[in-house]
Parts: sequence; structure tokens; C-alpha cells
Amino acid sequence: MTFDAPITIALSKGRIFKDSLPLLAQAGIEPADDPETSRKLILGTNHPRVKLVLIRATDVPTYVQWGAADLGVSGKDVLMEHGGEGLYEPLDLRIARCRMMVAGLPGADLTRPRLRIATKYLNTARLFFAGRGQQVDVIKLYGSMELAPLVGLSDLIVDLVESGNTLKANGLVPLEQMYDISSRLVVNKASWKMKYGAIMPLVEALREAVGG
Ligand code: PRP
Repeated sequence: MTFDAPITIALSKGRIFKDSLPLLAQAGIEPADDPETSRKLILGTNHPRVKLVLIRATDVPTYVQWGAADLGVSGKDVLMEHGGEGLYEPLDLRIARCRMMVAGLPGADLTRPRLRIATKYLNTARLFFAGRGQQVDVIKLYGSMELAPLVGLSDLIVDLVESGNTLKANGLVPLEQMYDISSRLVVNKASWKMKYGAIMPLVEALREAVGG
């Protein structure tokens, strides 16, 4: 792929980085360093005009929204919570798949008035329950949501579930599936226009890599 415009791609360390690598490789982009061993936040690639920036997963939409990165890979959970302002979401990369669920202790009553929900997905949880006319109190946590119903902090949690092992290990059960989650390619709206000649082939190569 040849293009002149410099392109910055925002990725988060861990699963998204690992699962994005084969897709990027199929699009002809390979990082010059391994982020697991290097502490660099900006990685060069084999492509002279493409660099990668490594940031917290929840920060990816922000970097792309403000144009500090042209493209990014972000979980749908993070995107929904961010709101997607300033971003296009042209591609489901079908990686890092899981479900966003309402969970709680067995027998928990989802229809009780003023349910307390513990989650890191404040906006998403509020919107979800408001969408069915239910007023809830949402309590912001930053992790280990499963603890909240066990110690009486909340009635329910809204969290990601993959294998279900974390719920099970803590005596909780999935009560309702909210959304299927996977990672998406996001593109800054201005970059899409200004760097179309570089971004379009990249998006198409990634589309091919995920199988259309
Ligand atoms: C996620 C999620 C659950 C767990 C679900 O946490 O918040 O706790 O994975 O996976 P499972 O269904 O396969 O058990 P993660 O480990 O990403 O850390 P977090 O608490 O920072 O979200």
C-alpha cells in the first residue's frame, strides 16, 4: 500500500492489540516493537507513513475524536459509553467478542423500583433502563463489579461476560443480555475526508482481512 499522508492508529495493549496484529499484518502493517516488552507509547511500523499509539482502551475514542489518531480499534462497549461523537465506525473487526449483560444474585428482581446498578458503563446502563421506562440508580465503579451485589452495594451489575466464569465464581447469574460486543475500527471524521487516499485502502484491506 503506497500513500503519502501520515497515518496514526490508536490501539490498546492486551487483547485488542494481540487480536488486531494479524488483521493489520494482512493489511501490510507490522509494528517495529513488541508492546509487551517495550514501554514505548508510540511504535513505528514497517510502513514509513504509519505509526501506532498505545493507550488505555477507554481513551481510544477520545484520541480519534480529537484527531490525535486517524484511526483506532475500540470495543463496542467503550464506544457506546463514549457516544461516538466525531467518529465513523466503518468496520466490525469481529475480535475481542463478548456480551454486555445485566447480572445479579439468583432470583434478583429486575422490575423492582429504583434498582441500584453498579457498573463502569454509566451512560450505557442509564440509557438501557431508561429505554424501557425504568428509573434506576447507577453507581460508577472502575472494576471488580461482581463484588457489588455480594456486599449490598447494588442490586445488579452491568458488565461484560465472556466465559461466564467470573460471575459463576462469585455466585452471580446472568439475568439479561444487553448487547453483543466486539471491537470496531473507528476513523476520525476529518481524517476520513482529508486523508481519504490513505484511509480508504487501509479500511478496505482490513475489511478483506476480516472476511468482507
Ligand atoms: C472482564 C469483565 C468481567 C470478566 C468477564 O473483566 O469485567 O469481570 O472479564 O470474563 P468471563 O465471563 O470470561 O469470566 P476484566 O478481566 O477485563 O477486568 P476489569 O474488571 O478491569 O473489567
